[in-house]
Amino acid sequence: MAIKPILYEDDVCRMIDQRLLPAQEVWLDYTTYQGVAEAIYTMVVRGAPAIGVAAAFGASFAASAIDATDYDDFERQFIPCCDVLAATRPTAVNLFWALDRMKKVARAHQGLPLAELQQRLRDEAIEIAAEDVRINMAMGQHGQVLFGQQAQVLTHCNAGALATGGYGTALGVIRAAVEAGKKIEVYADETRPFWQGARLTAWELQQDQIPVTVICDNMAGYLMQQGKIDAVIVGADRITANGDVANKIGTYTVAVLAKEHGIPFYVAAPLSTIDLNLADGSQIPIEQRDAREVTHCGDQQLAPAGVGVYNPAFDVTPARLVTAIITEQGIGQGDYLTQLAQLVAKGAQ
Ligand code: MRU
Repeated sequence: MAIKPILYEDDVCRMIDQRLLPAQEVWLDYTTYQGVAEAIYTMVVRGAPAIGVAAAFGASFAASAIDATDYDDFERQFIPCCDVLAATRPTAVNLFWALDRMKKVARAHQGLPLAELQQRLRDEAIEIAAEDVRINMAMGQHGQVLFGQQAQVLTHCNAGALATGGYGTALGVIRAAVEAGKKIEVYADETRPFWQGARLTAWELQQDQIPVTVICDNMAGYLMQQGKIDAVIVGADRITANGDVANKIGTYTVAVLAKEHGIPFYVAAPLSTIDLNLADGSQIPIEQRDAREVTHCGDQQLAPAGVGVYNPAFDVTPARLVTAIITEQGIGQGDYLTQLAQLVAKGAQ
């Protein structure tokens, strides 16, 4: 069974430090919202749904630490803590989705005594984590039918158990296909500059004995040309109303290559990743990260000191390159503007 990267027990949130994988398996304990914010910012925890789960626990810690005379006093203290969590990373909408959900739960229970309100928020964070695994498993069932009995599948970044509450989105679909008896071989783009593919996707698939081969990002086209890739599947950090998909930098390149080679390009994401407030991908804020990620590999300097660096963490794949979007409520294909709205409405029922 796939790893769960975020555990909660006895008021402590434990997260596996994803910066150290695969060399070391170190679990860190968090009990404050400031700690959780730091964990998200420094990428101890990463991946859109996992960031949402962590933020929910962060909000719950913030609530538990508040001493308030009435609900207005509680909210005056609670909202700024949520704002600190929201300021950690800008692209994955799941972060804001989870914090909005926690704020709504607080408001909905504003009549309760403080201790009970705090317990409701703790319960909600636990539910967000558990629900995410159920959602991923449902997504897996919907998506796995898209693969044949035997398939060689390329993925980019890590959209696996590590990036979620557990099981994974894109890797969840792969897991479900394997569980259905299909023979799936995965090619994992290494995913420069943070190496989520080489470090994390390779590690978690190996743990589950799913065949995985790591390639450098610039090898994908050659493999496609050789007929080695039957399908591409990736996760998403934000999907806009028209079906444009923000995901790890390099995803767009893979989508263009897939189109050129007539290979289906699938996106697996929970409905919490769909942002119907944004019309298209041009409106998605793209995180810019430290130059050192590009100039160095660990402590090893690769580029000359002082050289100019551009390090956007995500790119946007236009909807026209996306063959299908797999969600827990089913698959959207074609007219995303209508289909995504319908899937979101179905999920809200
Ligand atoms: O910078 P990261 O590692 O948080 O980026 C993660 C990704 O881009 C994933 O593909 C995306 O969040 C989907 S995770 C199910």
